[in-house]
Amino acid sequence: MPKLAIIGGGDLGQQIAAIARAHGGYEVAGFFDDFQQVGTNTNGGPILGPIDDIEAQRGQGTFDALLVGIGYKHIDFRRQCFERFTATIPFPSLVHPAAHLEPTVTLGAGTIVGAGCVFDGGVSVAENCYFNPGCIIAHDTSIGANSFCGPGVTLAGFITIEEDCFLGVGTTVIDNIRITTGTQTGGGTVVTTDITNPGLYIGVPGRKLRDRV
Ligand SMILES: CC(C)(COP(=O)(O)OP(=O)(O)OC[C@H]1O[C@@H](n2cnc3c(N)ncnc32)[C@H](O)[C@@H]1OP(=O)(O)O)[C@@H](O)C(=O)NCCC(=O)NCCS
Repeated sequence: MPKLAIIGGGDLGQQIAAIARAHGGYEVAGFFDDFQQVGTNTNGGPILGPIDDIEAQRGQGTFDALLVGIGYKHIDFRRQCFERFTATIPFPSLVHPAAHLEPTVTLGAGTIVGAGCVFDGGVSVAENCYFNPGCIIAHDTSIGANSFCGPGVTLAGFITIEEDCFLGVGTTVIDNIRITTGTQTGGGTVVTTDITNPGLYIGVPGRKLRDRV
C-alpha cells in the first residue's frame, strides 16, 4: 500500500490522515511540520521532520505520496508547499468514501474532498483544493487551484471560483457568479453578484468587510 505523508501535523493534517484511513488506499507514514518535535506521536501518526527534510526522506522511501495540510489562515503558504514539491513528488487526489462525485467530475493533484460532499456533473476542481464535510457543488462549476471550502459550502451551477479563495462555513453562492482570486468569505455569507475585488466578504447579501490580510 502506498505511504502518504502530510505537510502540517495540526488539526487539518489530522483530518486528512483520517480521510486517508477511511479511504483505505494509503498507509499514513506521518507528518512534516516545522513546529513539532521529530518523533512526536500524534493521533494520526509520527512527526517525520521539518519541511526541509521532505525530499531526503522521499529518497529514503519513508513515503510515496504527499498532501498539504496547511489551512485557510495560511493560504499563500498552502500554495508554496504544493508548488515546491509537485514537480518531484506525487500528490494524489483523495476523496472520502462517503462523498459522492458524478463520473464527469475532475479533480486536480492534491485536492481533498471530505465526507458528505456532493459534486454534480461537469464540476472541475484544480490542484491543491480542500473541501470540508458537506460541501455541495452543483453542475458545471469550476474551482481554481489552492482554494479551501469550509463545512457546508453550497455553490450553484455555472460558478467560477478563481485561485487561492477561502469560502467560510456555510457560504452560499448563487448560479453564474465569478469570484476573483484571493477572495475570502465569512461563515454564512451569501454571494449574489460577481466579486471582482479581492478581500473578506460577509453577510447576506455579501459585502466587503476589509481587504484580505
Ligand atoms: C469573517 C471572519 C473571518 C471575521 O473574523 P474577525 O476578523 O475576527 O472579525 P470579528 O469577529 O472582529 O468581526 C468583525 C465584525 O464582523 C461581524 N462578523 C464576523 N463574522 C461574520 C459573519 N460570518 N457574518 C456576518 N458578520 C460577521 C462581527 O459581528 C463584527 O461586527 P461588529 O463590528 O458590528 O461587531 C470570521 O468571523 C468568520 O466568519 N470566519 C469563518 C470561519 C470558518 O468558516 N471556518 C471554517 C474552518 S474549516
